Amino acid sequence: MDIIEIIEKKRDGFELNREEIHYFIKNYVDNFIPDYQASALLMAIYLRGMSKKEIGILTDEMRVSGEVWDLSMIPGLKLDKHSTGGVGDKVSLVLGPMIASCGGKLAKMSGRGLGHTGGTLDKLESIPGLDIHETYEEFKNQINTVGMAIIGQDTEIDPADKKLYALRDVTGTVSCIPLIASSIMSKKLASGADCILLDVKYGSGAFMKTIEDAKNLAQTMVDIGKELNKDVKAEITDMDQPLGFAVGNNLEIKEVINTLKGNGPKDLIELCLESGAIMLQQGKIFDNEIDAKNALIENIKNGKAFDKFKEFIKAQKGDVSYIENPEKFPVAKNVIEIHSPKTGFVNKINALAIGKGSMELGGGREKIEDEIDMSAGIILNKKIGDSVKEGELLATLYTNKEEYSHVEKNVLEAFEIDDKFDESNISKKISIN
Ligand code: URA
Repeated sequence: MDIIEIIEKKRDGFELNREEIHYFIKNYVDNFIPDYQASALLMAIYLRGMSKKEIGILTDEMRVSGEVWDLSMIPGLKLDKHSTGGVGDKVSLVLGPMIASCGGKLAKMSGRGLGHTGGTLDKLESIPGLDIHETYEEFKNQINTVGMAIIGQDTEIDPADKKLYALRDVTGTVSCIPLIASSIMSKKLASGADCILLDVKYGSGAFMKTIEDAKNLAQTMVDIGKELNKDVKAEITDMDQPLGFAVGNNLEIKEVINTLKGNGPKDLIELCLESGAIMLQQGKIFDNEIDAKNALIENIKNGKAFDKFKEFIKAQKGDVSYIENPEKFPVAKNVIEIHSPKTGFVNKINALAIGKGSMELGGGREKIEDEIDMSAGIILNKKIGDSVKEGELLATLYTNKEEYSHVEKNVLEAFEIDDKFDESNISKKISIN
């Protein structure tokens, strides 16, 4: 077999078979196929697309390109959840303790934030001492005893994705549904969970800008699950405004704490309840949505979800005194208030602008090697649908930087305030099974 023939076949619009896809992945990971030929094939896939069968095979070949973790020795079904990324998305940190306190087992590998989107690992690392590195044995042990673990992907899992993702990033081939779906699903499937819930975001702050693209990506990933006999479900949720009020690492951890204590923002708690109910049913802990939701609500009220969060933080060596006394988290030295220039209703909040603003204040990274300021970010005071009076607080910026006037301007412009509220801006949710 020859890589040039494979590139030509895809260039001419034909379907690749397992042997050809295996040949490409194996030899690319082993450095026998150079980046320039892999780039040509990626571009041919980008332009020609892939059939369901090809996407299933590509995912499977990427999945087995490195270590594949087996969690079957842990009793019960292991659950995982993946969000395609957004602004203020701290769902995993609220949802994990909620479902673990109900007997679910969360086995999750997470990523870091890049650009305007935040990452669960960075948020966790804003808790002093917290360690996101675990061996296979430690990961299994923690899931078994605590009921949840969230760790980084610094293992030998899915080396094909590591190489391909970096190459896609510099060859204009990131925004391609077969490549995104196989990238996400190969990592998820290699990390050992039995059931996966995908939260596919659409809107100004998301990868997928339209609901149609989000549906297409969600359906492609659910189909991969069917092809590979895994229980994969998806929900499509909007990212037309940040989730909750807090954007930025320790600011979001403080919101997680409040939410687990029963004082969370409505959109965040609703999404956690919906997602949690699906996952507890996937895990066969409950057989209907109402009982699952009631158990999740009960465990917020009786403090079990918050206690589970503390147990999880302790198991990963985080200093629990910060969770018990959130005022211990450092606060950025510059705190800047943004006030509304007029009276009206908030019709839009550009999530991309808020995410970028948080990054520019120091709360995110532009390049993967950039350092993050854990105390930097933005707290929104108003959300879509809220009424606002002239001079009222819209948002507060937190930064240790001295130059932030451009962020003040961009955050103010991110709010669209009109005389009337447009009902069509109310968020939509769709589930795909
Ligand atoms: N996240 C991934 O893991 N892979 C992609 O291709 C896009 C988003």
